[in-house]
Amino acid sequence: MVEKKGLLYEGKAKKLYQTDEKDVLWVEYLNQATALNGAKKDQIQGKGELNNQITSIIFEKLSEKGIKHHFIKQLSPTEQLIQQINMIPLEVVLRNVAAGSFSKRLGVPEGTELAFPIVEFYFKEDALDDPFINDDHVLVLDIANKEEIEFLKAEAKKINQALIEIFTEAGIRLIDFKLEFGRLADGTIILGDEISPDTCRLWDLLTNDHLDKDIYRRDLGDIVPVYQEVLDRLTKIA
Ligand code: TMP
Repeated sequence: MVEKKGLLYEGKAKKLYQTDEKDVLWVEYLNQATALNGAKKDQIQGKGELNNQITSIIFEKLSEKGIKHHFIKQLSPTEQLIQQINMIPLEVVLRNVAAGSFSKRLGVPEGTELAFPIVEFYFKEDALDDPFINDDHVLVLDIANKEEIEFLKAEAKKINQALIEIFTEAGIRLIDFKLEFGRLADGTIILGDEISPDTCRLWDLLTNDHLDKDIYRRDLGDIVPVYQEVLDRLTKIA
């Protein structure tokens, strides 16, 4: 049994603890919801549990599909064990359908199918509001090299295909999502962080209803029953 040790890092939605095992971290999912880079903030009872369970199911499903990631196992409703990786300060966003900042910035109506899935990079830096950056910025800021950039793009597209299969089976349309990657000691890049309705836009396959954090970002109602619906559908197919 792995033992929980000292707090390593506290983020907006998760706390990371060291363990008595080398390179193994203990994650606790929190009930805090934030939007607008932390300007909107609320405690939502049950959110941590829902995201931990949803993320755990998705990582297990991704393993079945051959995707490498940091998830080891779920420990409790709000906790999981992960492999420690050296996080790359990028938000890798993949879009299948126009929505959110893409629609706003480029004037493409939400819901417009894109001709092909696109990958975007955002520099993960709170003080700068996570700016949108291009490949040259990634290179010049020494965030990743050319080969790694190509790997991140290809891996994001591979994960997209796997997630589309998973969510379609659950009656959910995958609009877009954000991934974070990190490096193992030998430099190998693997998927980290979480995959949940906080980090994906998920629309009901039949009605296009929002099943994600846009409910919170846009003050459309209570996220708990919606996240519960996503968990119930994933549990059915898990
Ligand atoms: P965007 O349309 O606001 O750029 O978001 C694209 C996707 O990335 C959407 O599924 C939400 C997700 N996302 C995060 O998980 N964290 C973030 O900080 C941002 C900006 C987006």
